[in-house]
Order: sequence, then C-alpha cells, then structure tokens
Amino acid sequence: MTIQTPTSNPLAGGVPHDVPQTLPAGLPDPATLARLATEFFAALPGGGVSSAAPGGSLTDAASSASFASALPVAAPGLSSVSNPAPPGSPLAGPGGFGTGVPGAALPQGKVAGANLLPSAPTHVLSLGNRAPALVPHAAAQNGLPDSAVTIAPALEPRFGGAALGVPEGLGAQRPSAGGASGAPAAASPYYFLNEQAGTPGNGPSGSRDIVVPSSDTVTAQSFGLPGEAELRSLLSVQRFPYDAPSRDAATTDRSGVSRYFVDEAQASAGPSRAAHAVPNAAASAHPPFDVNAIRRDFPILSERVNGRQLVWFDNAATTHKPQSVIDRLAYFYAHENSNIHRAAHALAGRATDAYEAARSKVQRFIGAASPDEIVFVRGTTEAINLIAKSWGVQNVGEGDEIIVSNLEHHANIVPWQQLAAQTGAKLRVIPVDDSGQVLLDEYRKLLNDRTRIVSVTQVSNALGTVVPVKEIVEMAHRAGAKALVDGAQSVSHMRVDVQAIDADFFVFSGHKVFGPTGIGVVYGKRAILEDMPPWQGGGNMIADVTFERTVFQPPPNRFEAGTGNIADAVGLGAALDYVTRIGIENIARYEHDLLAYATSVLQPVPGVRLIGTAKDKASVLSFVLKGYETEEVGQALNEEGIAVRSGHHCAQPILRRFGVEATVRPSLAFYNTCDEVDALVSVVRRLSTRR
Ligand code: ALA
Repeated sequence: MTIQTPTSNPLAGGVPHDVPQTLPAGLPDPATLARLATEFFAALPGGGVSSAAPGGSLTDAASSASFASALPVAAPGLSSVSNPAPPGSPLAGPGGFGTGVPGAALPQGKVAGANLLPSAPTHVLSLGNRAPALVPHAAAQNGLPDSAVTIAPALEPRFGGAALGVPEGLGAQRPSAGGASGAPAAASPYYFLNEQAGTPGNGPSGSRDIVVPSSDTVTAQSFGLPGEAELRSLLSVQRFPYDAPSRDAATTDRSGVSRYFVDEAQASAGPSRAAHAVPNAAASAHPPFDVNAIRRDFPILSERVNGRQLVWFDNAATTHKPQSVIDRLAYFYAHENSNIHRAAHALAGRATDAYEAARSKVQRFIGAASPDEIVFVRGTTEAINLIAKSWGVQNVGEGDEIIVSNLEHHANIVPWQQLAAQTGAKLRVIPVDDSGQVLLDEYRKLLNDRTRIVSVTQVSNALGTVVPVKEIVEMAHRAGAKALVDGAQSVSHMRVDVQAIDADFFVFSGHKVFGPTGIGVVYGKRAILEDMPPWQGGGNMIADVTFERTVFQPPPNRFEAGTGNIADAVGLGAALDYVTRIGIENIARYEHDLLAYATSVLQPVPGVRLIGTAKDKASVLSFVLKGYETEEVGQALNEEGIAVRSGHHCAQPILRRFGVEATVRPSLAFYNTCDEVDALVSVVRRLSTRR
C-alpha cells in the first residue's frame, strides 16, 4: 500500500489536472503518511478498530496527517462538550437551545464547532478521509484551543437527511388550454408554455436604448445577407485575448493534503492509470474564443429537431453541457463513486476529494473568501428557501420588512412571502421604470430601520435587465439590513465577485452555468453562516448525536444534511473549469455583441414589441408579436428546430408590470451565433407578414 504522491499534472492549455497538487510546508510527506498508514493497517487484526474506547482521549490529530500517531489513544466521551442549537433551529428547544428533549440540559460557555469529539468510537480508518470542513473552526471558550483537541468527530453513516421543510422545486407550468389554433392543452409539446397567453401591445412601450453596435462592426450575415466575414472576424479568436486560467489548486484540500491516502491505484499504475486521467476542460483544447470550435464542445448542438439542426435559445431556462462536463460525470461514476466523508476506503477518499475540490472551484469562481462559505444545495430555489427558513426565521419578526424587486423570479418572492406570513413581516417591492430597470430612488424610500433583508436578482430572467446590485447591497447595509443577490441568471454571463459586491448571500444554480441540474450553491459570509441554525437535520450535518441533544457541524456541512448530489457537484466544478478556460470576460463581450446584434434585427420586425429594454441587459430578448399568442410563436420556431421559452417565465409580476401575461423569450449563450439569430428572426418576420 502506498500513498499517491500529489502530482502536478498540467495538461494542454495549462489547465491543471483534477488531482491534488501540493503538500503545504510543515506536513509530513507522502512517504511518511504511507509508512504510518501501512503500520497502522498492519497492526489491526481483521481491520477491527474498536479500541478507541469512550472515556479516553485523542491528542494532536487536528491534521489528517497525524491520525496514525493518535491511534493508540482512546477518544473521550462528550460529556463536557456542548453545542447548543442556535435559536430558530428546528432542533432547538423552546428556549432556543438544545433539542427540546426534556431534561436534556446543555452545558454552557462553549462555542458551537469547538472541541468536537465523538462520544462513540470513531473507526480510525475513516479518519484519513475527513473533509477539511469537518475540522472544527471556532475557538472554544473553554480555554482549550481546537487545534489541541484531536480529530474531527465521526459522522453518522447510517442516516439520511431528514426532510424538514424541503421546498417544492419550480414546477412545470401546465400546458396551455389552447392557443389561437384551439389545439387542446394535451397536444402541446411544450413544457413551459403559458397558461394564459397575454395580449401583446397593451403595456407601456418603454425606452429602447440598448446600445447597438454600428453596422461596420456587427452586421447581419448568412441567409444571403452581407457582412459574414466581418462578423466572423469580430467574434473570432483574434478579438479576445486568451485569459490564462488560474492554476487549479482545488484538487488539494484545505489542509493541502491529498486524501487518496490508501492508493490502491498505484498498484495499477501505468497505462491503465493514465487512461483514467480525470477529464477536464483542457481535454477539448482549442483557441479560447472560436465560436465554432466552442460549439463542437457541446454535443447536443448537433442534434436535429424537426429535420433542422437544433438552435438552443432557451439558455435562461437551462444551458447545455460541454463534453468535459459529461465526461467528468461519467468518470466520477466509473472511478470515484462513493458516499463522502464517511468511510476508510479509497473511493470515499476520491469522492470526497472531488466534491471538496468542486467546492473550492465554486469559491474561486465567485470570489468567496473561503470554501467554508460555499454550501451545496439543489439549486437557486432551494438556496433561497434555505436562507429564508434558517436566517429568516431567526432574524425576521413581526413588523419587520423584507425588500425584493418587481423583477424577481417566483423563487425570490414566494419563500419571502411564506416567511412574512409566518412571522408577521411585510414584503415590499422596488418598482422598475419602463425599460425594466429598478428605480434606486424608490428603493431608497423603502429602506428603514425595520428592513431586515433586501433580496434582488442580478439579472432578470424574464427581461434580461442587469441590476446594479453593488449599489443595492451598499444601500441595504447602510440601513442595517442584510442583502441577498440571486445570481441564477448572472453567473454564466458576467464576472461575479461576491466580496466586491459585498453580498451577505449569493445563490445560483449549476445547470444555468453549463453544469448539471440538481446542484446549486448558497454563498454566505462566514460569520453569518456560523450564526445560522440548520434547516434540515440528519446525517452529515452533525458532529455528535445522543437522544438528549445534537452537536452540529460548522458550516458548510451544517447545511448539507444527508447524502448530497456528489456527482453533480463535481460536474459543476468541471463546468466552472470550462467557463474559466473560455474566460468569463470573453464570454461577456461576445454575448454583449450577439445581444446587440439580435436586438438590432428583431426590434424592427413589424408587430414585434420588446419587453425589457434596459440599457444594461444580458442575454434575454423577451418579446410579443402582434396578432399572435406567444405559444404560437414558440411552436412556429420549434418547427424550425429553434427552442425558446414562451410563457410567464416564473416571473408573473414583472410581465404584468408591462401589461402582458406571457412573452416569447429567446435567451442567448456564448455558443449561439448570428446565423442562429437570423434563423429566428426570419421565422418571426414570416409570421408578422401573415396577420
Ligand atoms: N428560471 C428558469 C427560466 O427562467 C426556469 O426559464
């Protein structure tokens, strides 16, 4: 048995391999770890480790490197350790502490997360696979520094997370009851079609001041139109300098130690090992912004629909996945699949490494200060529900106020309404102007000393408005409120730096940024997360459980009850690698030009009314066509293989602000082209000439 030496394995393009890279200074080298592990395994008859009897003590195992030397010493019981459930926790008693179990008084004077020790023996083989997050972070108030107190506690491998307050995901809209054609709802092939298609043209017209590049830089092309060469040149590799991706340190855990400590793979080193190289973005190396080369990274873009090559303009609903993400998921299931943090075996180490590496990739992608500020959830909806049901229940009371904007997706309205109904708080709404931009002066008037949180989107999913979130957060803070930024529609289009924005919370979904569905992120400032109670209870989020009380893990594990979506977190990490390699600024520039071009050719079509014309927009072109239900336009486009969403986009309040119940919504990504825009516009133009 050997320890896998962390390797520096940069592949083509300088994007490093997804394998731990370096050991920090001061930690034992891999050979020492290997020797200790080997000695330990050899010393265990039958592999049984039941010698860490309650009542003993473990010392100096705060680093995973020292676990072997700590083995002969038994673990103490938890009688002197407390970790009161924070007020508001579902696990807190009526007084805000403890489990509510009668007679279960909790010792006071110590801090959650400090000096955590198992009350039951920990299988020592599991110690090498600890997630770094399991190491206690807070200093105890009992005078005993965490670093002096042995190992992170054992996790309970047998229980899944309790389904406390799990919210409904965003459901499908019911199919239309029939458009102008009178087709029965059941006949509609559309999942997202609106129930009530609105009559276009009744709302305020709005200003139309999006900046359209002059015709010598972006011109119509294809379909026999002039300018293709210029546009190709504009959108080609020469235009955008290569953004060298930062070196990927994510593959080393927060202690800097590879947790592949039991590396049977060494036994099969050689060609087969090499053949198992972890897929990564560099596997599809090509110049950083050659849109045709980029398109080849997305196999689904070759799909044919109704005899035509698919045109995917439904990116605000979900994005497609590059081959590197698909390969990474397949690799996980072929070579790493295991539950995490919970076992001694090699695959648990691999899965844990991959999962924690993904957390670090998210941290770097959004500019968070620490991976401990990154909580994995199902998606943006679950993320906002977590915050409302944990932070919200703890901090919002009767008469308090919650501010959202008129632009919000239902996922950033309903959880706050539920919280307001539960607590007696009020929901207040920032209005928008006729272009769909929030009115900061009106917002200022809404802020007061009862404002507890301001929760706004960074990009409107229905209109594409880019909201000035930095200013909004700053104004919220001046009023003493917290601020949440919904990044579901922004992370794939622009650089996000949560520290620059100074958001207290930032949330997004993996599937909107070329990653898998079912995985999303809550970013929270560490101090805020540490004060928040868990919202679900169960395995993985606990440090120790007795029938009298529960000791919670610190964040982020405190908020990740049960077995999470491990593979898709890893897939999200691969997606962020891919986006990083292309360069988010390159993406933003290309999409800006593409949106400007699309606006310039769609807006003049007779009968077209754009909904959402803010000066600062990203990716979305919502419109209605005079004489047509939005569903009809969607169907006509689908017949040509062009996918758009038509309906209310889970954002009914903002559409009603513009006097409509539904729009047709093409939404762009960096793999879309002007050719595709032209194909869409030609269908809309054809329709417009008929009625
Ligand atoms: N939020 C997604 C959309 O805007 C579903 O389509």
